[in-house]
Amino acid sequence: AMKLISGRKELLNHLGSLRGAHESLGLVPTMGALHEGHLSLVKKALAENDSVVVTIFVNPTQFNNPDDLEKYPKTLDEDLALLGSVGQEITVFAPAVEELYNKGITSKKYFFDGLDKVMEGAFRPGHFSGVATIVQKLFELIRPDKAYFGEKDFQQLQIVRKLAHNLPFDLQIVGCPIVREPNGLAMSSRNRLLSEEMREKAGLIYKTLKEAGRMFGTENATKVGEYVSGVFSGESDMELEYFQIADEATLTPVKRKQENSKYRGFIAVYAEGIRLIDNIAMN
Ligand code: PAJ
Repeated sequence: AMKLISGRKELLNHLGSLRGAHESLGLVPTMGALHEGHLSLVKKALAENDSVVVTIFVNPTQFNNPDDLEKYPKTLDEDLALLGSVGQEITVFAPAVEELYNKGITSKKYFFDGLDKVMEGAFRPGHFSGVATIVQKLFELIRPDKAYFGEKDFQQLQIVRKLAHNLPFDLQIVGCPIVREPNGLAMSSRNRLLSEEMREKAGLIYKTLKEAGRMFGTENATKVGEYVSGVFSGESDMELEYFQIADEATLTPVKRKQENSKYRGFIAVYAEGIRLIDNIAMN
């Protein structure tokens, strides 16, 4: 049956008994306010492992904006009901902040070869050290065989791959495709902070990414960027923070398409003051 645990010791005991039974273990780290995007990761993890740990923890060190942390939705009861509907071989770990940050709420320092310097890293100072700090803590505590991350946060996925590669134990990182609303809006916990009207209208973000993808190839990145800026300059309640076409592996900006490389278009938009991100493959 599904189990809810909030203490490290209790979690370690429980994982010990699973491991004793030679069960393979999948991990899905989340900040809660779960939606179909999160559930797609959980379903994949359940299909590929004997049992799955889902963590629900709003990690303070990755929030560069105190207001964003304050407003972040918390819906534990609904989260548990959703997880229960997906499978029973799930352990939910939902600790208090002090349980994971027992030596102070601070991030470690990391070197990610520039992956953390662009886009989200540039606009959210300290964000990725906070993400890496909590993800490393969870990996070390839970020691999963596989851990699942969404392409919704593609830069985070690439950074987590590098983090895992540098850790002294084996762990497979599994990337999962972006789950979208019927209008194309990438599912996100922050979407519930939008008005009904904006939730509908914000489909414009994906529509623009798709059009940008079609343009890139015949037009260079500068031209495509001008098109994207133009779309959002016409919207009073939406503000473009960045649009960037980057190499999938290095995340460095590219000017024009070349053979044998893979590209993605990355975007961050404020809609009614809520920060939304999305990305799309551009090959
Ligand atoms: P959170 O935003 O809750 O997302 C948890 C996981 O779900 C991430 O791997 C994210 O990429 C994935 N996800 C979110 N929306 C998705 C969508 N629409 N389609 C597919 N996957 C989606 O990302 C975090 O939490 C945190 O940074 C965390 C990794 C838990 C560290 O605190």
